[in-house]
Parts: sequence; C-alpha cells; structure tokens
Amino acid sequence: MTSSREKMPIAVLISGTGRTLKNLIDKINAGELDVEIRLVVSSSKNAFGLQYAEQAGIDVAIVESSNYGNREMFSEAVFEPCRLAGVRYVVMAGYLKLLKIPADMHNRVLNIHPSLIPSFCGKNMYGRLVHEQALNRGVKVSGCTVHFVDDHYDNGPILIQETVKVKSNDTVESLSDRVLHEAEFVAYPRALQLLAENRVEIVYTEGEERPRVVIKDE
Ligand code: GRF
Repeated sequence: MTSSREKMPIAVLISGTGRTLKNLIDKINAGELDVEIRLVVSSSKNAFGLQYAEQAGIDVAIVESSNYGNREMFSEAVFEPCRLAGVRYVVMAGYLKLLKIPADMHNRVLNIHPSLIPSFCGKNMYGRLVHEQALNRGVKVSGCTVHFVDDHYDNGPILIQETVKVKSNDTVESLSDRVLHEAEFVAYPRALQLLAENRVEIVYTEGEERPRVVIKDE
C-alpha cells in the first residue's frame, strides 16, 4: 500500500448516517487503502453522511427513488453517474434501497450486512432489528458479511466475514456498536483492498445455486 500505487476508483452509495463512508475516507487518508472514492450517491437529500463526502471534497449525486416510476429506472439513475465517474466498483454503505443490477454491473456491486449471512438477513432486516434478533436467538458469535449484490436482499456471493463474540450482558446498542467498530470497520476496507490487489476470483460450479468467491494467496 504505497501512495504511488494506482488507486481503485469506486462509488459509495449511502442512505443515512454515513459511518461506513467515514471509515473508508479515514482509511484512505491514513494510506491504508488503495482506493479513490470518485462519487457518493445518496438515496436521500437529508442523509447525514453527505457531510462527510462534502468535507472530503467528493462529488455527490442525490438520487431519490420517489422521482422514478419503477425500480429499473431508479437503478439506472443510480448507476449512470457511477459509469460516468469511471468507477470499477459500486459500494453500498448503509444503503437501504433494492436495486436492479444492470448487466455491466454484475459482480461489481458490494454491500456490507451487520450479521453472519445467511442468519438475520433479507428484506426489512437492517438496523436494530438484526442485532435484536441475534440476541433473542441467543447466538454466541455475530459479525458482518461483505458480499456481492444481486437483485435480491443480502443474497449474492460472500466475499468475507468477520466475527465478534456475543457477551452475556450485551444489549442491542453494545452489540451493534461492537459489530460496527470491530467487524465492519475492518472487513469492508479489507475486502476493498483485496479487490484493489486483484485477489478476488468468482468461481462458478455447475449445479451450485450461486458462485463462490476465492481469495488468492490467502
Ligand atoms: C451498518 O450496520 C451496515 O452494516 C449497514 O448500515 C449500517 C451503517 O450505516 N449496512 P451508516 O454507514 O452509518 O449509514
């Protein structure tokens, strides 16, 4: 990871607080991530995270679903500025909209989910609810999953997962905080760095429901 190394261009999609975006900006500024955020696309003009993009001097596009007739049109409005910005990957970071992935974006869109997929994921499973259900189920480990995005919620090939231990006195707040800081803040930069180093291979095997991700030289 050197400053002379070419940076992998990405776009980041946000909907709200933007802690994930802020973490990526911090890691890039610290020289720990060979990535350049060319564009931030927000699904809401009121997203708090927009201020992190502005502070960092990153171009911003606001694309609100209510302005589009259907999912295809909305998705195109999200991906078109990403294409124009010349990004290699589109990185969902606390992004709450389901997109239709166009053919040229296949295996180029990523998401992070605050549980170990396939547990506690799918439609409407975001925010507090994920950790509430993990605690209710009494799991002993939780964590996060970085995965490629297809046209269904939390369904695409898993790139990496990071675990945290669940403590007997955990609350939704303490668990979500630990998953965010100890798992997500480590896993997303790591996944993006692996992509920047071209160490991620997607392997299709006949008869399997979805391809698997193989990390080279691990
Ligand atoms: C994280 O839990 C992440 O897994 C989920 O959104 C939360 C972060 O939101 N996708 P934000 O980055 O603070 O907006």
